[in-house]
Amino acid sequence: MGETETARLSQSHTEMTELLMPDDTNYFERALGGAVLHWMDICGAIAAMRFSHSQCVTASMDHVDFITPIELGEVVVVQAYAFETGRTSIDVKVDVRAEDPHTGDSRDTTSSFLTFVAVDEDGTPTPVPDLVCESDAERQHRQEAIEERQAQLEAIIDRME
Ligand SMILES: CC(C)(COP(=O)(O)OP(=O)(O)OC[C@H]1O[C@@H](n2cnc3c(N)ncnc32)[C@H](O)[C@@H]1OP(=O)(O)O)[C@@H](O)C(=O)NCCC(=O)NCCS
Repeated sequence: MGETETARLSQSHTEMTELLMPDDTNYFERALGGAVLHWMDICGAIAAMRFSHSQCVTASMDHVDFITPIELGEVVVVQAYAFETGRTSIDVKVDVRAEDPHTGDSRDTTSSFLTFVAVDEDGTPTPVPDLVCESDAERQHRQEAIEERQAQLEAIIDRME
């Protein structure tokens, strides 16, 4: 890839839908945290790969709070998009929502920020396109992610003090 190449935020938008099955639940018939983290990782990686057109590996995941449980039989919707790039890294926001399939009601359950690194055939970090926002919606998504990540980091620091 040429170092001056660009890609739009919208190119990375990814949505994955799962049905919460018994294998992914705990004693209380609620989602295992590890299952949710796995879906977040996969959805985020697809967003990073769609953005960069390269293989991407997970370098890090920010703090994750499981805000509300997801119940057996609920629909799990995972959404991700890239909002920041470095030379070879891509920051991705991942949100998880649970939907009651009978009522259609949904609620936010988890949100976090993952960093992926694009790698070449040898596994060596390789340059990614610069992120560009060409619509108001893209600019708004990017701003939301930056502000929410900052707020999450500040909340963690507060908790530690
Ligand atoms: C991620 C990885 C490729 C980085 O390799 P590296 O030799 O440290 O590469 P560099 O020091 O050149 O850094 C490359 C980029 O990764 C970023 N990076 C490295 N470690 C990071 C971390 N822990 N968190 C966030 N970004 C990280 C750097 O900031 C740099 O970004 P930039 O190019 O945009 O400035 C390497 O650590 C790796 O392969 N880790 C294992 C990945 C993996 O297997 N993930 C699956 C889960 S086990």
